[in-house]
Amino acid sequence: MDKLIPVVVIKDINDTRKIMQALKKSGINCAEITFRTPCAAEAICLAKTEYPDMDIGAGTVINEEQCFRAIDAGAAFIVSPGLSKEVAAVCAARNIPYYPGCVTPTEIMTALSLGITTVKFFPANIYGGLKGLKALAAPFPQVKFIPTGGINRDNLEEFLACDNVAAVGGTFFVEEALSKWAE
Ligand code: 3PG
Repeated sequence: MDKLIPVVVIKDINDTRKIMQALKKSGINCAEITFRTPCAAEAICLAKTEYPDMDIGAGTVINEEQCFRAIDAGAAFIVSPGLSKEVAAVCAARNIPYYPGCVTPTEIMTALSLGITTVKFFPANIYGGLKGLKALAAPFPQVKFIPTGGINRDNLEEFLACDNVAAVGGTFFVEEALSKWAE
C-alpha cells in the first residue's frame, strides 16, 4: 500500500488528466477517486487506462451499488467514510482491499470480525488526531490506521512516524500538487 493517499474529487471528467499528472509529478503514485461526483466511475476508468502504473482506488463508497460500479471501473481498493457490511461483502467476494472508516472500538471490532485489519480513521482531526488514534490503537495492535481528515503538510510527518499508521489520506495532496504542477 502507498503511504500517501490523495483524496481526489473530480467535478469535471476533463480535469482527470490534469490532476493525475500533477500527482505523478509530485511523486505520488496513488489516488482515491471519490464517489462524491457523478463522474467518479468514469474518472477511475480513465485514470486506470492512462496511468496503469498508478494505484487507483475509489473513495466515499457508501453502498453496494457504488462498490460494484467502482470495481467494474477498475478500482484497485475501496474506501468508505464509515463501515458498510454490504460493501465489505462485495470487496471480499471480488478480492479487493476494503478500508472502512472506524473511530470507535466497536467499529474496529466489527471490521476485525469481517477480516479487515486496516481501517480509515476519519475524520482524524475531529476524533482526537494522533492522540486519539494511539488511544484507539492500544487495544488493537493488529490494526493499522489510515488517518484522514485535517491532514496537512504540518502534521503529516508525525502521523507517518506512528507504527500503527499504514498510510495517510487527504485532499491536501491534490491541492499541493495542483498548485505546484498544473499549467
Ligand atoms: C475524506 O473524505 O477523506 C476527506 O474529505 C478528506 O479530508 P481533508 O479534506 O481534510 O483531507
